[in-house]
Amino acid sequence: MFFIQFLFLFASTVFLPGATSTFSGHLADTHIHAIPPAYANALDVAGGDPSGYPTPAWSIEGTIESLALVGSSYGVLSISTPGVPIAGVGQTARDLCRELNIYLANLTSSYPENIGFFGALPDWRDIDGTIAEIDFLYSTQKQAIGIGFYTSYGDLLPGDPTFKAIWDKLESYKALAFLHPGVMDVYPRFIGDFLPQPIIDYPQATTRAAVDLVFSGVVSNTPNVDIILSHAGGTLPYFAERAWGSLLIPSIENRSAVDSATAIAQFRNFYYDIALSASPTQLNGLLQNTNPSHVLMGTDYPYADSTLIASSNDEYLDFAAAHPEIAAPVLSKNAKVLIERHAPIN
Ligand SMILES: *[C@@H]1O[C@H](CO)[C@@H](O)[C@H](O)[C@H]1NC(C)=O
Ligand SMILES: *[C@@H]1O[C@H](CO)[C@@H](O)[C@H](O)[C@H]1NC(C)=O
Repeated sequence: MFFIQFLFLFASTVFLPGATSTFSGHLADTHIHAIPPAYANALDVAGGDPSGYPTPAWSIEGTIESLALVGSSYGVLSISTPGVPIAGVGQTARDLCRELNIYLANLTSSYPENIGFFGALPDWRDIDGTIAEIDFLYSTQKQAIGIGFYTSYGDLLPGDPTFKAIWDKLESYKALAFLHPGVMDVYPRFIGDFLPQPIIDYPQATTRAAVDLVFSGVVSNTPNVDIILSHAGGTLPYFAERAWGSLLIPSIENRSAVDSATAIAQFRNFYYDIALSASPTQLNGLLQNTNPSHVLMGTDYPYADSTLIASSNDEYLDFAAAHPEIAAPVLSKNAKVLIERHAPIN
């Protein structure tokens, strides 16, 4: 036990991003996943990933190699969809969640120069369990870069008033929150009866959740929380004007917590990773809707294989050659600044 505590102490004093000396976080990839054995097992027990997307093999060695493929030296691992909610909302899910966070923290201790993580949380409808895990991450473990959450829980979007206590808790820790798309309850479940949801439905889920977080007032009420949207914001850059424009209609503005000017500013103030989202249409849209300082590297390993990661990165490099405002050194600095701002307080 003493040894473990010593390890943690050592890790948190020397290696955590908040410690000034060692964290280079070069081109930190904030959208990259781990599939710990306990999670793979939970998926199996549940009959597989309900998104229709096959679950790939994962390893920490593969993770490090994948980072190198895009010139990154640091990955902030998270648990992809469906995450802990696959185990329901009871004690089994809470136990799984804790095991995943300990596993991820162990990885950061073993690979301090290369690996950080977004803490896993239970299904937010388990409000007490979610708050307890946030407290564990920030008050006890103190190793996570931030937390991961999903675009919906059952039929609730993350800005639903049901979740107010969770947002208050995240605000109290000034958390960095990574929003990953979740499986959508849409009908038919799959386009053409076969297309996995990540292709088209996930970007829509991100847009729905992002607009919800702004219109519900969550973003206004959590000024110290920064939120990263996946995949260049899904379709948000494309539809942002449609969303804030709706607030010029009095009957709609009447129901919204924010006016259109505030909505524009809050959309711009999200952070956006470019995982598998580097087409000129997506990157131009992104730059028209946020500041270059809010753009982050992402790859989606291992759900994206090395071929896909390399071709997406080539697209990004082509674009960045003509848009130095989001060249690799800029993305590198963006992540470093963001991660250091939210480093857990020891
Ligand atoms: C984490 O590391 C500790 C210390 O090495 C070990 O005892 C424990 O089994 C590990 N837990 C997980 C979930 O990997
Ligand atoms: C919203 O609209 C309702 C009904 O039209 C009205 O009674 C109410 O005062 C309006 N609220 C605001 C904040 O404008």
